[in-house]
Amino acid sequence: MDYKQIRFGVDYYPEHWPRDRWETDARLMREAGLEVVRMGEFSWAKMESDEGKFDFAWLEEAITVLAKEGIKTILGTPTATPPAWIIERNPEILPVDDHGVTRGFGGRHHDCQSNETYRTHIRRFVTAMAKRFANNPHVIGWQPDNEFGNSHRNLCMCDSCAASFRVWLKKKYKTLDALNEAWGTGFWSQTYSKFEQISAPLPTPNSHSPGLLLDWKRFCSDLIVDFQKLQIDILRRECPHHFITHNYMGFFDKTDYFDLGRDLDFVSHDQYPLHFRKDRYPVAPPERLAAALDLMRGIKRKPFWVMEQQGGPSGWETLSASPRPGQLRLWTYQSVAHGADAVVYFRWRTCLFGTEQYWHGLLPHDGKPGRRYDEVKKTAGELKNVINAFAGGDQGAEAAILFSYDQDWAFQVQPHHFDFDYITHLMTYYTAFYKAQVPVDLIPEEADWKKYKLLVAPLQFLTTPELVAKLTDYVATGGHLVLTMRTGVKDWNNRVIPHTLPGPLSEVLGLSVDEYDCLWGVEQAVRWSDESRIVDPEPCVKWCDVVAPTSARALAKYTLDYYGDTPAITENSYKKGASYYVGTELGPEVMKTFVAHALDKANIRSILSPAPSGVEVTRRRAGNHDYIFILNHNSIAAEVRIPKEWKIAIGEAFAEKGILSLPAYEVAVCISE
Ligand code: GLA
Ligand code: ZN
Repeated sequence: MDYKQIRFGVDYYPEHWPRDRWETDARLMREAGLEVVRMGEFSWAKMESDEGKFDFAWLEEAITVLAKEGIKTILGTPTATPPAWIIERNPEILPVDDHGVTRGFGGRHHDCQSNETYRTHIRRFVTAMAKRFANNPHVIGWQPDNEFGNSHRNLCMCDSCAASFRVWLKKKYKTLDALNEAWGTGFWSQTYSKFEQISAPLPTPNSHSPGLLLDWKRFCSDLIVDFQKLQIDILRRECPHHFITHNYMGFFDKTDYFDLGRDLDFVSHDQYPLHFRKDRYPVAPPERLAAALDLMRGIKRKPFWVMEQQGGPSGWETLSASPRPGQLRLWTYQSVAHGADAVVYFRWRTCLFGTEQYWHGLLPHDGKPGRRYDEVKKTAGELKNVINAFAGGDQGAEAAILFSYDQDWAFQVQPHHFDFDYITHLMTYYTAFYKAQVPVDLIPEEADWKKYKLLVAPLQFLTTPELVAKLTDYVATGGHLVLTMRTGVKDWNNRVIPHTLPGPLSEVLGLSVDEYDCLWGVEQAVRWSDESRIVDPEPCVKWCDVVAPTSARALAKYTLDYYGDTPAITENSYKKGASYYVGTELGPEVMKTFVAHALDKANIRSILSPAPSGVEVTRRRAGNHDYIFILNHNSIAAEVRIPKEWKIAIGEAFAEKGILSLPAYEVAVCISE
């Protein structure tokens, strides 16, 4: 079976269960409509108990047991969990954190990805594993490692990584003079006279050079890409008929996912709406989940897999709430609606031991199929054929948002305002499109922008002449472009450019930015002032650019303080297109009005308008048909009026006279010509 036909699966850890249970598991999986498992990641110690002492027989047996029920296998390489015997012999593999402290064995990802000894162990192990399974007819693909960058956010700053950083810098800058110039090391006497003087950014008495910090983030990202490549080279050589994917984590940004994706056949994603820690939402807002999925679709501009879709309450030391009846199904539909061609649930059965004793699978600890199993079975059964109709297809987005890891990192180095965050800012735009039922693609700088009528390019803080030219050309040839606060401030090395903001984009935008104001301890508000709509002033937050129009006209104005009555949002015609400038982080009402205006001008229609609050409407495109997904994220029923021409593919039971009555967490799929 071609992997492109697979729709549902589950992450399985046969090594955690008695051998005599495996047949039961495999049968229950098949009965639920699950067609693939991912196995093997994290089981290095079981597969190699001492150097060169391999035991793959148990895994092979599990693959065979599953295959008897028609289930295929994706293998994870277990390199996120180097066994104790390796660490005992080569403790230098352990990672060093941003306080210079070596992290010990245990947990996972207790590794340094630049360490050559570790890489030698990986080469040996991955080669042996790949050779063993290359011709197994039931193995279809690979996932190198697990969630690259996870647990590594402040790692690794060991001597090996510092040395690799210097190699990376020499390649980038060639000469020390070029590096000193780019980083502006003339400041605070930081001039380097030898590359060897440069180390990882361990704590200084206070802060670090912005140039160094941005390059460090880029280096860390490239290191992960290189670390993945090490395994991919082996897997491609030994297993040319298998696909290779990796399980991403949505907006996680330790590594540039566009770069990481270049070596993969397709990307996968881990989708966990429920959280168990205080620093996250208990339940992620649906638009945040949707945006993460859209980014995954944007990575290679094609559909993806979900390799870990929430299968039960999550938890380590503390727990999330339990998914409500219908939510696992709802979230599966959402993943599919945003571009997943296959959904694999995490995990099969809840483990009896280890850190993830409370990370619940489809089956509870006792192994008896219950509510969650039944819900997934129903979902897989009803969705499989529907997905077959549009698999491979996109969302037919006419609008896009530019996503850039470099911009994100530059704002991590200097957030300007304590609460400022690149992704949160980007979400203010995304949310407005989401709530207007307008699909958007999240795309990188190098994508083809011209197929979009409207492009939002938030926070173009770092610029290059090429990027400026591409933005200018996009508008000149008829595009509608939104640029925002902090555009054109820096060069790609994180040095401020000595021009009047926003630099060469002034002409496209028809304005200059003469001053700015960090909203720290001061307040500001924005009033939509375009004649067509009047919206009450609404607070804006974090930052304001004080804008002086040349040819642009104000759509909205600030209302307070010394720059009250000056433009907060502008519009400008430029050659065949139009540009907008937004000088602040807008509140939701003004943003909604602005996005509605820009959509209207770009001639982009909502899929269904209006839709009740908490009801998501989006689509997958298949040739001449659109499959419209209507998802009720509310814990109460919602009524949705749908056009007469829509044929209901799933959800007939809820329709009467053009009105869908969706109970809590219920979904419907319609087909439109
Ligand atoms: C991640 C990992 C899994 C598992 C789950 C639950 O997404 O990839 O191995 O740890 O989270 O914690
Ligand atoms: Zn290291």
